[in-house]
Amino acid sequence: MKSVKIGGITINNPVVLSPMAGISSLPFRVICNEMGAGYSPTELVSARSIRYNGIDKSLRYMRILPEEEGITAIQLFGSEPEDFEAAIETIMDTPVLKEVSMIDINMGCPVPKVVKTGSGSALIEDPDRASNIVKACKKTVSQLPRPVPVTVKTRAGYNADDKGKPDFARALADAGCDMICVHGRTRTQMYHGESSNEAISVMREAVRGYEIPFFANGDITDAGSARKVFEQTGCDGIMIGRAARGNPWIFGQILAGLDGREIPADPAPEIRKEMLIRELEGRLKYLPEDVAVREFRSVMPYYIKGIQGAARIKVQLVSAVSFEEVKEIIELV
Ligand SMILES: Cc1cc2nc3c(=O)[nH]c(=O)nc-3n(C[C@H](O)[C@H](O)[C@H](O)COP(=O)(O)O)c2cc1C
Repeated sequence: MKSVKIGGITINNPVVLSPMAGISSLPFRVICNEMGAGYSPTELVSARSIRYNGIDKSLRYMRILPEEEGITAIQLFGSEPEDFEAAIETIMDTPVLKEVSMIDINMGCPVPKVVKTGSGSALIEDPDRASNIVKACKKTVSQLPRPVPVTVKTRAGYNADDKGKPDFARALADAGCDMICVHGRTRTQMYHGESSNEAISVMREAVRGYEIPFFANGDITDAGSARKVFEQTGCDGIMIGRAARGNPWIFGQILAGLDGREIPADPAPEIRKEMLIRELEGRLKYLPEDVAVREFRSVMPYYIKGIQGAARIKVQLVSAVSFEEVKEIIELV
């Protein structure tokens, strides 16, 4: 696969981890980088919270380690341009964050708590506000010693019958964003039904005349579905979400398939179990043990999916409270 340029940043390949709250931990992003992901953004963080509460509350979700995770993006959500300006200024003034490669704006989150504040996918219905947010972010980064690219991740519409929002895509591009990624579901669909490549391609075509890369996202689970998305949408890159949970090997498999190389086999159970432990050890480096284990409960079943006996230990894993307990349970399969 070819490299892609997002603003001044070149990613080696266009197969990227999709941001996922609770999943896109720092150790997981490091693992995805090793497994070939083009880059991996953090999960969404509130621009308003950074502006008014400072960095401490959100730091754990934004902590980055460029030496190990390579190119990375911090994803912000919000509805007020001034909140984004303040958040970016704070991020770029914080030693452990200022090496971030890009800022991504969330314009796709469908969760009511986020949408009712005018953030996330609510911005699809308010293109002027969305455009002002992009402009505010671009103005803020332009004043930095290192003006990082500003990207947007959004959806193919808000209402159930939306079939792509070409005007919205053009508004984002006109405002100067450096990359657009579209998930082919509407806000109403949340995560149900199918992601529409047709709706994605409507938005892709709308911004073809702009010099910015366009990424597609939704329901990509293997090399076959990845190829189909490239062919049907004309995108420059793809983001992989749910299929990467507990399965970072997917990046190597998809890249091999797209390059016409032999697709590596799924990893053996022992390797999957080792990776589970490795991610948990990584989480333990910056979280208290009880918190790290509790938050990892929902992720662990993905690592052992398909292993014989996995269903039996899943029940135990999702109530584990300590690292030792997780290790003991894992040894049962
Ligand atoms: C558990 C979970 C958390 C998510 N969190 C975020 C997030 O923080 N930011 C974001 O832009 N999208 C988020 N998403 C959406 C995904 O990035 C992606 O757009 C969506 O899952 C569709 O892609 P997929 O079919 O490959 O999973 C989340 C999805 C899931 C399942």
